[in-house]
Amino acid sequence: MTIEHIVTEARGPVLRVAMNRPEKKNALTLAMYDGLCAAFARAAADDAIRVLLITGAPGAFTAGNDIGDFMKSPPSGEGSPVMRFLQALVGFEKPIVAAVDGPAVGLGTTMLLHCDLVVASDRARFTLPFTKLGLVPEAASSLLLPALAGRQRASMWLLLGKPFGADEAREAGLVNRVVPAAELDQAADALAAELAAMPATAVRLTKRLIRQGQADAVAAAMAREGALFVERLAAPETMEAMVAFMSKRG
Ligand code: COA
Repeated sequence: MTIEHIVTEARGPVLRVAMNRPEKKNALTLAMYDGLCAAFARAAADDAIRVLLITGAPGAFTAGNDIGDFMKSPPSGEGSPVMRFLQALVGFEKPIVAAVDGPAVGLGTTMLLHCDLVVASDRARFTLPFTKLGLVPEAASSLLLPALAGRQRASMWLLLGKPFGADEAREAGLVNRVVPAAELDQAADALAAELAAMPATAVRLTKRLIRQGQADAVAAAMAREGALFVERLAAPETMEAMVAFMSKRG
């Protein structure tokens, strides 16, 4: 099934959800967030689905939020498509496997903090360019990334927007496995199948236990970040950076 640039396919107990707007490096539009929400809801409601596998297109996981959409229809708070997607992702009870190839920018990297197992290709490239755009981090990354990777490393990535590769992401704990690009799908499918073969309730409860200790802090961080993010989107320096990106590309 395809809902505007989101392709979902049930493969036995695994629902594969692929972002598919390769001509724009899978930059996420409002419609794509809606499509992702629908896919997550389908996976949550269907007892036959035990694992959700999220992926991009060959050579592009996602370039993050569509910058044109940020300018035309900036998120205004809780009910906006991006926030609804983040809530669906953070609240998702079944395990999520992510397969990352090519650029994973902004939300493309921060969403991985909420996935359970992440496989990256050796050409995956992670970037958190929030400050360069005049913005602040989202998806509780200001809390989770320093906790995972250490404050110094998280500061390089979040304050300076320095890109990093798959090996560094694995070393920092953001990625479980790095494989050649040609083997990415197979490696992610194998992990998803392994998870799907485990006792489903025990997996779900274990996921909840792993996440529960931080759940309140994650919700509070997302609320703090969200309020500032919305404010920053209207800042002149942010507008300037976004106009520069869009006009450079025509
Ligand atoms: N929003 C809107 N359009 C985007 C986009 C985004 N976030 N990211 C890429 N695109 C578009 C480009 O404008 C270009 O469109 P065009 O072919 O009509 O000119 C197309 O996607 C391909 O991108 P391009 O930059 O030519 O590919 P690349 O391989 O050289 O670089 C990226 C890929 C992802 C590194 C680069 O596009 C980029 O930095 N994008 C911006 C990421 C960003 O800042 N996201 C916001 C995070 S909050």
